[in-house]
Amino acid sequence: MPSRFVLLLSCLALLGCAPQPAEDVPPAEYDEAEELAQLMAYVQRYAEKLYFAGMADNAPLAQFYVHELEETFEAVEDGGYIENDWEVAELVEDLAMPALTGVEQAVAAQVLGPDPDRARTLFEERYGVLVNACNACHESTAHGFIRIVVPEASSFPNQQFAPPVD
Ligand code: HEC
Repeated sequence: MPSRFVLLLSCLALLGCAPQPAEDVPPAEYDEAEELAQLMAYVQRYAEKLYFAGMADNAPLAQFYVHELEETFEAVEDGGYIENDWEVAELVEDLAMPALTGVEQAVAAQVLGPDPDRARTLFEERYGVLVNACNACHESTAHGFIRIVVPEASSFPNQQFAPPVD
């Protein structure tokens, strides 16, 4: 049986696959990209939960997720990311924040409005605008392959989105 040493030698001789010295420090872009994707995973999570809370007329819960989304997008802004020559912070300000304010207004209508059906329709409409904002930024930053849609089913079967019954 050939020893590992022989295998390594023949590998070196035949293929020229000399082991490369390990990089001391990973490139900075790598860390940054990973961090942005991690923040986006939270954005995805809160955006999904926001939908089910809003559609269940659970305004306090929907408000909670709007707030979490705002905070997560603020963290994205603070990260100073550049993607495809775009300042991601600028896209957050121009695309994400206005769409989020629209959803916030719809949630406020759920609290204040006399007509829950109308408020829910407005929420659904504004949520659609938010989903479009997600995709517009993904496209601008050359991540159009990450396509967000209105959620069909909750990924969180252990959480109730409807308001608690007293
Ligand atoms: C301001 C720009 C911007 C906005 C707005 C934005 N994204 Fe992203 N998103 C990105 C970028 C850039 C990446 C790729 C990050 C990377 O390369 O690491 C990304 C990656 C993702 C990913 C992949 C990470 C994973 O866990 O699979 C998901 C999911 C995602 N975004 C969801 C959303 C959702 C949902 C919204 C809207 C509520 C949204 N994004 C809004 C820029 C944005």
